[in-house]
Amino acid sequence: MIHVLVAVVKNISIAVANNMKPDTLILDSDDASISIAGDIINNGGLVAFPTETVYGLGGNALNSTSISKIYKAKGRPSDNPLIVHIGDISMLKPLVKEIPEKAKLLIDAFFPGPLTLIFYKSELIPYEITAFKETVGIRFPQNDIARKLILASNVPIAAPSANISGKPSPTSFSHVKNDLDGKIDAIIKGDDSFFGLESTILDMTKDVPVMLRPGSITKSMIEHVIGEIEISSYLKDNIFLEDSIVPIAPGMKYKHYSPNASITIFKGSDEKVVKEIKSLCDKNSHLKIGILTDDKNKDFFDENMFTVLSVGNTITEIGKNLFNKLREFDKTNVDIIYSFDFQKYDDGTNDDFDLNFSVMNRLNKASGFNIIIVD
Ligand code: TXA
Ligand code: MG
Repeated sequence: MIHVLVAVVKNISIAVANNMKPDTLILDSDDASISIAGDIINNGGLVAFPTETVYGLGGNALNSTSISKIYKAKGRPSDNPLIVHIGDISMLKPLVKEIPEKAKLLIDAFFPGPLTLIFYKSELIPYEITAFKETVGIRFPQNDIARKLILASNVPIAAPSANISGKPSPTSFSHVKNDLDGKIDAIIKGDDSFFGLESTILDMTKDVPVMLRPGSITKSMIEHVIGEIEISSYLKDNIFLEDSIVPIAPGMKYKHYSPNASITIFKGSDEKVVKEIKSLCDKNSHLKIGILTDDKNKDFFDENMFTVLSVGNTITEIGKNLFNKLREFDKTNVDIIYSFDFQKYDDGTNDDFDLNFSVMNRLNKASGFNIIIVD
């Protein structure tokens, strides 16, 4: 067994050294496999791996060649920076200029977990990661496989979501295989992502920290620990940035998370939305129509006539299932998708910027902010 493992690692090392692309190795999540994956990353290769948010596409964060391979494999524009993952809190200090007091409190409360903090970068971080900005995003994932991989690779790991740029983030092994098989060195096969939404991003370089991407750690959870924060106006106003505008977080300007068919979101009471979608279905009977709904509205639509996909029944379930369902529409070749709005789900917080806001941030972006109000 050990001989086989050594042979695999040697072959990969040779392939990496020769800049050849080996077939993508599918690895389990046992310690021996994680050790192989760690060697691949340490040697400059790319490994996709599970985290609690979404799957990540990892490379050695201290190696500029690895970083450029990540951009190439994803087809990602080079002005959209990558975040850096650590496997132990002791890895943080050398990567950043300073750790503000409020960041220390958040680290105590939420690391490891689904939160990325933006700091001024140290000289160790190559500019290729930060798209030539002076700041870097750092995340300490909670997922065991992710943490073990970072420790096994013995370097911090740069990892964007492991999807082709513009596609919904991958929340299962099959999504990653679908997008990146043949383009990277290995994929570690783990469970479906626990949260299913990418980490919350908070810019800690400002006196009043600014939320740049909402996620499973919400505004009120953060404010409970450090007091008031700001929500980036781009998030609040639901603005879809044009390419010509310089964004605060470069990721904000690209259309994201999109299935092949265009999505229209209908906002209003369930009754009115059902009626409106049904009437559009009648008008567009020549099209293959997909409907994105929740469990309680599912039965209003005939599954023999339409592709009806339910995201579930609680906002946590919807967050976990959303990207998966968006990807499922691609398999059915629908021409157009009509979606319910999930802002109204009660997660018990009475908070405008709760998990519902994070979920709708992704769905709104997937639709290119194509939202119709029917109330
Ligand atoms: O949950 C996650 O964060 C996943 C898993 C794999 O950890 N990663 C992830 O990475 O979602 P990515 O690259 O798909 O999204 C990171 C976002 C991008 O929108 C990028 O623009 C923003 O973080 N970002 C990275 N560095 C930044 C910086 N220095 N300042 C502002 N935004 C930054
Ligand atoms: Mg992404």
